[in-house]
Amino acid sequence: MKIAIINGPNLNLLGTREPDLYGSQTFEQYLVSLERQYPNVNFSYFQSNIEGELVGELQRVGFDHDGIVLNPAAYTHTSVAIGDAIAAIRTPVIEVHISNVHAREEFRRISHVSAKCKGTIAGLGLRGYELAVVFFLNAD
Ligand code: DQA
Repeated sequence: MKIAIINGPNLNLLGTREPDLYGSQTFEQYLVSLERQYPNVNFSYFQSNIEGELVGELQRVGFDHDGIVLNPAAYTHTSVAIGDAIAAIRTPVIEVHISNVHAREEFRRISHVSAKCKGTIAGLGLRGYELAVVFFLNAD
């Protein structure tokens, strides 16, 4: 089972970035616990602050992985290119948001990726990533 986790802009600052919204754990710390919990899963992790690099990574993993867990961060609300990339690949994508984007500013309710994804998890903190993994592990 190969699962790719892809994080968009500013998520490299998790742990220090607005901890009230995003928590105080770095993603690297969280990933270690996830890898320990699911030793049979082969995880890859990619983070970028650059839209085109996120498109490139989706294309790279999108034909041979079993699942992609994607938090496009602010690009969720702006990026037609990331939405198109999800539609163009074969691997199913689950969109994850740490915060509840529906309970925040109006512009965060718009997603250019949701309609292309298998599903969306928002507002459950970092646990959202694990729940997406659990879905892929139990998917047909
Ligand atoms: C986010 C929500 C986005 O609106 C925001 O731009 C982010 C993080 C989340 O995980 O809650 O950077 O995707």
